[in-house]
Amino acid sequence: MAPINAVITGIGGYVPDEVLTNKDLERMVDTSDEWITTRVGVKERRILRGEGKGLSYMAIRAVRQLLEKTKTDPSEVEVLLCATTTPDYAFPTTASIIAYETGCIKAFTFDMQAACSGFLYGLEIAANFIRAGRYEKIVLVAGDKMTSMTDYTDRNTAPLFGDGCGAVLIEPTEENYGWVDSILRTEGIGREHLIMWGGGSVLPLTHEGIDKRLNYIYQDGKVVFKYAVAYMADVAAEIVERNHLSKEDIDWVVPHQANKRIIDAAGKRLGVPEEKIMVNIEKFGNTSAGSIPLCLWEWENRLHKGDNMILAAFGAGFVYGAAYLKWGYDGQRSDNGQS
Ligand code: UT7
Repeated sequence: MAPINAVITGIGGYVPDEVLTNKDLERMVDTSDEWITTRVGVKERRILRGEGKGLSYMAIRAVRQLLEKTKTDPSEVEVLLCATTTPDYAFPTTASIIAYETGCIKAFTFDMQAACSGFLYGLEIAANFIRAGRYEKIVLVAGDKMTSMTDYTDRNTAPLFGDGCGAVLIEPTEENYGWVDSILRTEGIGREHLIMWGGGSVLPLTHEGIDKRLNYIYQDGKVVFKYAVAYMADVAAEIVERNHLSKEDIDWVVPHQANKRIIDAAGKRLGVPEEKIMVNIEKFGNTSAGSIPLCLWEWENRLHKGDNMILAAFGAGFVYGAAYLKWGYDGQRSDNGQS
């Protein structure tokens, strides 16, 4: 019997309709469209507004679209895994809420957190659940409502983030497609450079904590940038070398969308031309765990069975990594409902 591998067999996504442009931000903090465009590469981002709307609002929509596109009966989903840093609540899990609302009534569900590397880490878990032969239909939904922890009085972080979510179906295959290889790592020096100090078990939120704005993202951008540029490119290059891929063999690079300059550095390191690098940071900003699946979602109709893809991510922790996968099907399964 051929060994079982795990392959992505469909993708759904959701971004909120409301757009926050750089011009809007100019009215909120001391910044400019020119600075944000040249230093970060973002022109606009989507924001989820409205009382009672958390990550699950987007995730439910992404999963519903995925199930419709792949004609999957939700009761057949065995595992529903949600990768996020912005769950609806500390508990219960957001995965349990998504499963209930999408009819995945028989799924075993859990949340996981690996910050901006969440999708990559989630794929590693899902792929190995499949390879173990124990499960046959896994939904991985990854995304963040980053605006829920973005401080719109802090110009260092306000322009960077947006909200969005993607979802993939992962199934077994005996063909030579799917998850080929991965390198996932942690550089623990990152802790204090990208963190939300308040709201966890070290510093449960108090009035004082809120006055100190500890319920928002803190980032030392320069330090994070330095590590992100080096580590994301290094690990992407390492996986390419280890799998004996030439730059011509690479059909797509799918990088985490934190800063266009970090993406460019990774592309340059791999020697891959711009048209093979998925970039949508200008429209969506940094959606953390959502950024890689939202790229795949947008590019789906241009993908072909057998395309060689390098995925790479870097985020808080610092947890980072790269993966090599062979795409499993041709084109878009049906309308994404997005232009
Ligand atoms: O997704 C998780 C991982 N996160 C990342 O990978 C993010 C990594 N970091 C970055 O992408 C960049 O460091 C930032 C985009 C966050 C910042 O860009 P930078 O080029 O590193 O800027 P900087 O922090 O070094 O600041 C340069 C200057 C400073 O002014 P002075 O001190 O040179 O006078 C800042 O005060 O730009 C100023 N500045 C701004 N100016 C206008 C900082 N933020 C802004 C702003 N508008 N929004």
